[in-house]
Amino acid sequence: MLIVAYLCGSLSGAVILSKMLHLPNPSEHGSHNPGATNMLRVNGRLPALAVLFFDMAKGLLPVYFSYRFGVSPFFLGMIAIAACLGHIFPCFFHFHGGKGVATALGAIVMIGLDFSGLLIVTWLISVGLTGYASVGAIVTFLLAPLYVWFIRPELTMPVAMLSCLILVRHHSNIQRLLKGEEPKTFRKKTH
Ligand code: G3P
Repeated sequence: MLIVAYLCGSLSGAVILSKMLHLPNPSEHGSHNPGATNMLRVNGRLPALAVLFFDMAKGLLPVYFSYRFGVSPFFLGMIAIAACLGHIFPCFFHFHGGKGVATALGAIVMIGLDFSGLLIVTWLISVGLTGYASVGAIVTFLLAPLYVWFIRPELTMPVAMLSCLILVRHHSNIQRLLKGEEPKTFRKKTH
């Protein structure tokens, strides 16, 4: 299941859907990140939504089927990490992948709607306050281990590992944010 999860994660939603829809490939435009945020930047809302669902599904499905096969909670966490590693280092796309946020959120849905709801609310508040999708991801995955520690303490370790992976993957966003050079993802309408 770890290998299956890695292979599922390696199916880059942004690259596959942009090819299918004959749209510019987000890996080559915008931030060059093949994820839903950059799909939004490059190709607009609907394609971005499609990428979001695709990338969430490839995190959710391997964890869901492993759960149905009776895999233990700790190894479900490892399977979620394998799917995210596939998204970040996809073997089908020269190991040039995204940052793992949607795939991690998809996998995390299996932990419970309370936990995923908290993460989504955290993401919405931080993006709403700042306008940066990257700040949403960074704040959400900084808080994720704390949230899960209260809700499902036995899953703190895999969630912390997943969070570390995503935070490390945002190092270039963190550097740009510190220098004030990160482009806003969402801007307030002026009228
Ligand atoms: O989920 C990815 C997001 O946090 C940052 O994406 O394209 O702005 O680097 P991007």
